Amino acid sequence: MARLLTKSTDTERLYIWELPVRLTHWLIFFSFIVLSATGYYIGHPFISVAGPARDHFVMGTVRAVHLYAAIVFTLSVFVRIYWMFAGNRYARLTQLMPFGAERLRSFWEAMMFYSFMRREAEECAGHNALAGSSYAMIYGVYLLSVATGLALYTVDASPGSPFQIFKFLIPLFDGLQMARLIHHVGMWVVMIFAVMHIYFVILASIAERIGTFDSIVSGYKFLSKRKTGTP
Ligand code: HEM
Repeated sequence: MARLLTKSTDTERLYIWELPVRLTHWLIFFSFIVLSATGYYIGHPFISVAGPARDHFVMGTVRAVHLYAAIVFTLSVFVRIYWMFAGNRYARLTQLMPFGAERLRSFWEAMMFYSFMRREAEECAGHNALAGSSYAMIYGVYLLSVATGLALYTVDASPGSPFQIFKFLIPLFDGLQMARLIHHVGMWVVMIFAVMHIYFVILASIAERIGTFDSIVSGYKFLSKRKTGTP
Protein backbone atom coordinates (compact mmCIF):
# COMPACT_ATOMS: atom_id res chain seq x y z
CA MET A 1 0.00 0.00 0.00
CA ALA A 2 1.34 3.43 -0.92
CA ARG A 3 2.38 5.53 2.04
CA LEU A 4 0.65 8.87 2.39
CA LEU A 5 3.07 11.79 2.26
CA THR A 6 1.80 14.37 4.68
CA LYS A 7 3.35 17.61 5.87
CA SER A 8 4.60 17.21 9.42
CA THR A 9 3.02 19.66 11.81
CA ASP A 10 5.85 19.67 14.33
CA THR A 11 8.62 20.75 11.93
CA GLU A 12 9.23 24.15 10.46
CA ARG A 13 10.96 24.95 7.17
CA LEU A 14 13.71 27.49 7.78
CA TYR A 15 15.81 29.33 5.17
CA ILE A 16 19.38 28.83 6.40
CA TRP A 17 21.92 29.05 3.55
CA GLU A 18 21.50 32.14 1.41
CA LEU A 19 22.35 32.10 -2.30
CA PRO A 20 25.94 33.46 -1.89
CA VAL A 21 26.73 30.66 0.62
CA ARG A 22 25.38 27.92 -1.68
CA LEU A 23 26.81 29.41 -4.87
CA THR A 24 30.31 29.86 -3.42
CA HIS A 25 30.17 26.37 -1.86
CA TRP A 26 29.57 24.77 -5.27
CA LEU A 27 31.90 27.06 -7.21
CA ILE A 28 34.66 26.19 -4.71
CA PHE A 29 33.78 22.49 -5.01
CA PHE A 30 33.89 22.39 -8.85
CA SER A 31 36.88 24.71 -9.21
CA PHE A 32 38.74 22.62 -6.61
CA ILE A 33 38.20 19.46 -8.70
CA VAL A 34 39.62 21.23 -11.79
CA LEU A 35 42.49 22.75 -9.77
CA SER A 36 43.43 19.39 -8.25
CA ALA A 37 43.40 17.53 -11.56
CA THR A 38 45.37 20.21 -13.44
CA GLY A 39 47.65 20.95 -10.45
CA TYR A 40 48.52 17.27 -10.12
CA TYR A 41 49.41 17.18 -13.81
CA ILE A 42 51.57 20.32 -13.54
CA GLY A 43 53.49 18.70 -10.65
CA HIS A 44 53.73 15.28 -12.35
CA PRO A 45 53.40 15.69 -16.15
CA PHE A 46 52.67 12.20 -17.46
CA ILE A 47 51.48 12.84 -21.03
CA SER A 48 54.22 12.59 -23.64
CA VAL A 49 53.52 13.64 -27.21
CA ALA A 50 55.41 12.96 -30.42
CA GLY A 51 57.10 15.89 -32.16
CA PRO A 52 57.76 19.44 -30.93
CA ALA A 53 55.94 20.43 -27.72
CA ARG A 54 54.63 23.67 -29.30
CA ASP A 55 52.54 21.65 -31.78
CA HIS A 56 50.53 20.20 -28.90
CA PHE A 57 50.81 22.72 -26.08
CA VAL A 58 49.63 20.17 -23.50
CA MET A 59 51.28 21.76 -20.44
CA GLY A 60 50.34 25.26 -21.66
CA THR A 61 46.66 24.26 -21.97
CA VAL A 62 46.63 22.54 -18.58
CA ARG A 63 48.21 25.60 -16.94
CA ALA A 64 45.70 27.95 -18.60
CA VAL A 65 42.81 25.83 -17.29
CA HIS A 66 44.45 25.82 -13.84
CA LEU A 67 44.67 29.63 -13.89
CA TYR A 68 41.03 30.11 -14.95
CA ALA A 69 39.88 27.70 -12.23
CA ALA A 70 42.11 29.57 -9.75
CA ILE A 71 40.31 32.82 -10.63
CA VAL A 72 36.90 31.22 -9.94
CA PHE A 73 38.20 29.66 -6.70
CA THR A 74 39.81 32.89 -5.42
CA LEU A 75 36.79 35.09 -6.21
CA SER A 76 34.44 32.56 -4.57
CA VAL A 77 36.56 32.41 -1.42
CA PHE A 78 36.63 36.22 -1.15
CA VAL A 79 32.90 36.57 -1.83
CA ARG A 80 32.22 34.01 0.92
CA ILE A 81 34.56 35.83 3.33
CA TYR A 82 32.72 39.09 2.57
CA TRP A 83 29.43 37.26 3.24
CA MET A 84 30.73 36.26 6.69
CA PHE A 85 30.19 39.94 7.56
CA ALA A 86 27.16 40.74 5.37
CA GLY A 87 25.13 37.52 5.43
CA ASN A 88 22.43 36.19 7.75
CA ARG A 89 23.28 34.86 11.23
CA TYR A 90 24.06 31.38 9.87
CA ALA A 91 26.64 32.72 7.41
CA ARG A 92 28.48 34.88 9.94
CA LEU A 93 32.04 34.47 11.17
CA THR A 94 30.68 33.69 14.65
CA GLN A 95 29.37 30.37 13.24
CA LEU A 96 32.94 29.37 12.43
CA MET A 97 34.45 30.26 15.82
CA PRO A 98 33.82 28.08 18.89
CA PHE A 99 33.76 31.07 21.26
CA GLY A 100 31.19 31.67 24.00
CA ALA A 101 29.34 29.24 26.26
CA GLU A 102 26.71 28.25 23.66
CA ARG A 103 29.24 27.48 20.90
CA LEU A 104 31.51 25.58 23.32
CA ARG A 105 28.54 23.44 24.39
CA SER A 106 27.68 22.78 20.73
CA PHE A 107 31.36 21.87 20.08
CA TRP A 108 31.34 19.38 22.95
CA GLU A 109 28.00 17.81 21.94
CA ALA A 110 29.21 17.35 18.36
CA MET A 111 32.47 15.78 19.62
CA MET A 112 30.45 13.32 21.72
CA PHE A 113 28.19 12.43 18.78
CA TYR A 114 30.95 12.00 16.20
CA SER A 115 33.01 9.86 18.62
CA PHE A 116 29.97 7.57 19.19
CA MET A 117 29.66 8.61 22.85
CA ARG A 118 26.16 9.99 22.23
CA ARG A 119 23.33 8.53 20.16
CA GLU A 120 21.40 11.69 19.33
CA ALA A 121 22.86 14.37 17.06
CA GLU A 122 22.28 17.95 18.10
CA GLU A 123 19.62 19.59 15.91
CA CYS A 124 21.46 22.60 14.54
CA ALA A 125 19.99 25.35 12.38
CA GLY A 126 23.39 26.55 11.10
CA HIS A 127 26.69 24.68 11.50
CA ASN A 128 27.36 22.88 14.75
CA ALA A 129 30.45 24.41 16.40
CA LEU A 130 32.71 21.46 15.49
CA ALA A 131 31.75 21.66 11.81
CA GLY A 132 32.11 25.46 11.97
CA SER A 133 35.66 25.15 13.35
CA SER A 134 36.63 22.71 10.60
CA TYR A 135 35.34 25.24 8.04
CA ALA A 136 37.42 28.02 9.67
CA MET A 137 40.49 25.79 9.33
CA ILE A 138 39.69 24.98 5.68
CA TYR A 139 39.16 28.67 4.82
CA GLY A 140 42.67 29.23 6.28
CA VAL A 141 43.99 26.54 3.91
CA TYR A 142 42.11 28.16 0.98
CA LEU A 143 43.78 31.50 1.75
CA LEU A 144 47.22 29.87 2.00
CA SER A 145 46.62 28.16 -1.36
CA VAL A 146 45.62 31.47 -2.95
CA ALA A 147 48.62 33.32 -1.47
CA THR A 148 51.15 30.62 -2.49
CA GLY A 149 49.52 30.41 -5.94
CA LEU A 150 49.93 34.17 -6.42
CA ALA A 151 53.55 33.98 -5.23
CA LEU A 152 54.27 31.20 -7.76
CA TYR A 153 52.49 33.10 -10.55
CA THR A 154 54.86 36.08 -10.27
CA VAL A 155 57.54 33.91 -11.91
CA ASP A 156 55.45 33.53 -15.09
CA ALA A 157 53.68 36.88 -15.18
CA SER A 158 55.27 39.31 -17.64
CA PRO A 159 57.59 41.91 -16.04
CA GLY A 160 55.02 44.71 -16.40
CA SER A 161 52.09 42.64 -15.10
CA PRO A 162 50.16 43.95 -12.08
CA PHE A 163 50.54 40.45 -10.60
CA GLN A 164 54.21 41.30 -9.93
CA ILE A 165 52.89 43.12 -6.87
CA PHE A 166 52.61 39.72 -5.17
CA LYS A 167 56.40 39.19 -5.31
CA PHE A 168 56.51 40.37 -1.68
CA LEU A 169 54.88 37.04 -0.71
CA ILE A 170 57.89 34.96 -1.80
CA PRO A 171 60.16 35.78 1.19
CA LEU A 172 57.17 35.39 3.54
CA PHE A 173 57.05 31.75 2.45
CA ASP A 174 60.82 31.40 2.72
CA GLY A 175 61.24 31.16 -1.05
CA LEU A 176 59.50 29.66 -4.06
CA GLN A 177 60.23 26.03 -3.21
CA MET A 178 58.51 26.33 0.15
CA ALA A 179 55.59 28.21 -1.47
CA ARG A 180 55.26 25.34 -3.94
CA LEU A 181 55.38 22.73 -1.17
CA ILE A 182 52.67 24.54 0.84
CA HIS A 183 50.56 24.91 -2.35
CA HIS A 184 50.89 21.16 -2.98
CA VAL A 185 50.23 20.06 0.62
CA GLY A 186 47.19 22.41 0.71
CA MET A 187 45.60 20.39 -2.10
CA TRP A 188 45.93 17.13 -0.11
CA VAL A 189 44.60 18.78 3.07
CA VAL A 190 41.48 19.97 1.20
CA MET A 191 41.07 16.51 -0.36
CA ILE A 192 41.23 14.78 3.02
CA PHE A 193 38.85 17.40 4.43
CA ALA A 194 36.44 16.81 1.51
CA VAL A 195 36.28 13.05 2.11
CA MET A 196 35.63 13.52 5.85
CA HIS A 197 33.22 16.39 5.23
CA ILE A 198 31.06 14.39 2.82
CA TYR A 199 31.02 11.47 5.26
CA PHE A 200 29.99 13.73 8.15
CA VAL A 201 27.34 15.51 6.07
CA ILE A 202 25.78 12.15 5.14
CA LEU A 203 26.02 10.93 8.75
CA ALA A 204 24.45 14.15 10.11
CA SER A 205 21.77 14.03 7.43
CA ILE A 206 20.73 10.50 8.41
CA ALA A 207 20.95 11.10 12.18
CA GLU A 208 19.39 14.57 12.39
CA ARG A 209 16.67 14.05 9.75
CA ILE A 210 16.37 17.79 9.16
CA GLY A 211 17.44 17.84 5.51
CA THR A 212 21.13 18.71 6.05
CA PHE A 213 22.30 17.11 2.79
CA ASP A 214 19.79 18.91 0.56
CA SER A 215 20.18 22.18 2.46
CA ILE A 216 23.34 23.15 0.57
CA VAL A 217 21.30 23.00 -2.65
CA SER A 218 17.90 24.32 -1.53
CA GLY A 219 19.02 26.52 1.37
CA TYR A 220 16.30 25.09 3.66
CA LYS A 221 16.42 22.88 6.74
CA PHE A 222 13.44 21.40 8.58
CA LEU A 223 13.69 22.02 12.31
CA SER A 224 11.38 20.90 15.08
CA LYS A 225 9.19 23.71 16.40
CA ARG A 226 10.55 22.98 19.89
CA LYS A 227 13.94 24.13 18.52
CA THR A 228 12.70 27.18 16.63
CA GLY A 229 10.47 28.26 19.51
CA THR A 230 7.28 28.20 17.38
CA PRO A 231 4.25 26.93 19.38
C1 HEM B 1 35.73 19.63 -2.32
C2 HEM B 1 34.64 19.28 -1.64
C3 HEM B 1 33.97 20.14 -0.61
C4 HEM B 1 34.49 21.15 0.15
C5 HEM B 1 35.92 21.67 0.16
C6 HEM B 1 33.41 21.66 0.98
C7 HEM B 1 33.51 22.71 1.88
C8 HEM B 1 32.48 23.18 2.67
C9 HEM B 1 32.55 24.32 3.52
C10 HEM B 1 33.78 25.20 3.70
C11 HEM B 1 31.34 24.47 4.11
C12 HEM B 1 30.92 25.59 5.02
C13 HEM B 1 29.98 26.44 4.17
C14 HEM B 1 30.11 27.88 4.45
O1 HEM B 1 29.60 28.33 5.49
O2 HEM B 1 30.76 28.55 3.63
C15 HEM B 1 30.48 23.41 3.67
C16 HEM B 1 29.18 23.19 4.08
C17 HEM B 1 28.37 22.17 3.64
N1 HEM B 1 28.70 21.27 2.64
FE1 HEM B 1 30.46 21.10 1.68
N2 HEM B 1 32.27 20.94 0.71
C18 HEM B 1 32.57 20.01 -0.26
C19 HEM B 1 31.72 19.10 -0.83
C20 HEM B 1 30.42 18.87 -0.43
C21 HEM B 1 29.54 17.89 -1.00
C22 HEM B 1 29.87 16.94 -2.17
C23 HEM B 1 28.37 17.96 -0.31
C24 HEM B 1 27.19 17.06 -0.57
C25 HEM B 1 25.97 17.45 -0.56
C26 HEM B 1 28.50 19.01 0.68
C27 HEM B 1 27.52 19.40 1.56
C28 HEM B 1 27.62 20.42 2.47
C29 HEM B 1 26.57 20.79 3.41
C30 HEM B 1 25.22 20.09 3.55
C31 HEM B 1 27.06 21.87 4.14
C32 HEM B 1 26.34 22.56 5.31
C33 HEM B 1 26.67 21.66 6.47
C34 HEM B 1 26.18 22.12 7.80
O3 HEM B 1 24.97 22.12 8.03
O4 HEM B 1 27.05 22.44 8.64
N3 HEM B 1 29.76 19.54 0.58
N4 HEM B 1 31.19 22.63 2.77
